[in-house]
Amino acid sequence: MAPEIMKGLKDVYLDTTTSSFIDGEVGKLLYRGYNIHDLAEQSTFEEVIYLLLYGSLPNRQELADFDSLLRSNRRIPDEVIQVLDLVKNSHPMDALRTGLSALSAFDPEVTDNSPEATIRKGIRLTAMGPTIVAAHHRLRQGLEPVAPNPDLNHAGNFLYMLFNEVPDEETTRLLDVDFILHAEHGANASAFAARVTASTISDLHSAVVTGVGTLKGPAHGGAAEEVMKMSLEIGQPENAEEYCRARLESGGRIMGFGHRVYRAEDPRARHLRERARALSEKMGQPHWFQILSYVEEEAMVPYRSRGIHVNVDFFAGCIYYLLGITDDLFISIFALGRIPGWTLQCVEQFEDNILIRPLLEYTGEMDLSYVPIEQRS
Ligand code: CMC
Repeated sequence: MAPEIMKGLKDVYLDTTTSSFIDGEVGKLLYRGYNIHDLAEQSTFEEVIYLLLYGSLPNRQELADFDSLLRSNRRIPDEVIQVLDLVKNSHPMDALRTGLSALSAFDPEVTDNSPEATIRKGIRLTAMGPTIVAAHHRLRQGLEPVAPNPDLNHAGNFLYMLFNEVPDEETTRLLDVDFILHAEHGANASAFAARVTASTISDLHSAVVTGVGTLKGPAHGGAAEEVMKMSLEIGQPENAEEYCRARLESGGRIMGFGHRVYRAEDPRARHLRERARALSEKMGQPHWFQILSYVEEEAMVPYRSRGIHVNVDFFAGCIYYLLGITDDLFISIFALGRIPGWTLQCVEQFEDNILIRPLLEYTGEMDLSYVPIEQRS
């Protein structure tokens, strides 16, 4: 009897987790039991990292200590800067993948897969990730990397290292919320890939590098960049109808819509929608938000009955663009937010490990006679 093929592992439960809970039917997302809406509105990325890695919200002292730990781990070795310089012409995600991989050469605990060491490494990778992305971005522009600023929080310091300018509080908070919304999301493709690597009893650096490589595709982390490219192609709200009709009629997809798990609206989108609206008005460029609104409120309305709604990436690109961030950096920002989630998934995998190794049903030819090369036509 032919085996049942679970193509794309749709609806397959791989394991149990205490990391995040998703109810795709109603659009609900919890990190460690806490609703994403409460975290996006009231928390900070530093607090969310702590919550994910240690399983509970920190008290004031715990958060202050954890924040200093992150701040003190931001510097990357000069050798890694040299590596980034060598690959300065590559895509920022490729540079991030290479930079994180290079960090393994300098991490004293690289082969220690205990939960404690994995969490310590996850904290270091979370702290150093923004330094890699910002340093590479500066190097490719022919500029010197900017050293981390210990007076700024995680989001603010990243913007500072990118632009060599201390960002205002509002801008810092925008990126802080964006990082919170991207921090963890169950068995998404990149976390699954990271778990597969961890399941071979490899190590966290390798697993995070796997995660970055998997996140890069437009079906996963690359959607925000594609949405902004679409908005730029549309140009003005009055062109949106024609653009969407042509794209959808030719069988194309509108990026930033649809999700493997959500059949209702992705709960993360709400927080970026309001922020994208406010920012585009504040910057005197309301047309970007108007284009997105047209796509959501007109073009994609018929898709709602099929469970296709906006996802987290639909409004993210517009925000990054308005903050002056180059479009090929958008996925890297997603990756920087996701390092804590990948770390937690690896801790769980290492703690109760089984090699992840599914089967493929063979559909090729069988038992062919081997013909020596001199007898082949
Ligand atoms: N625009 C138009 N049609 C769509 C879209 C879309 N964005 N997404 C899905 N569909 C249609 C698709 O054409 C298919 O139709 P049919 O059944 O007639 O062939 C149906 O919906 C099911 O699509 P699928 O690809 O089989 O569904 P999936 O669960 O494998 O896809 C997805 C999930 C995210 C890959 C897909 O919705 C997509 O390509 N979306 C655009 C890319 C995107 O925004 N990705 C970011 C996801 S959220 C961030 C993250 O966590 O990664």
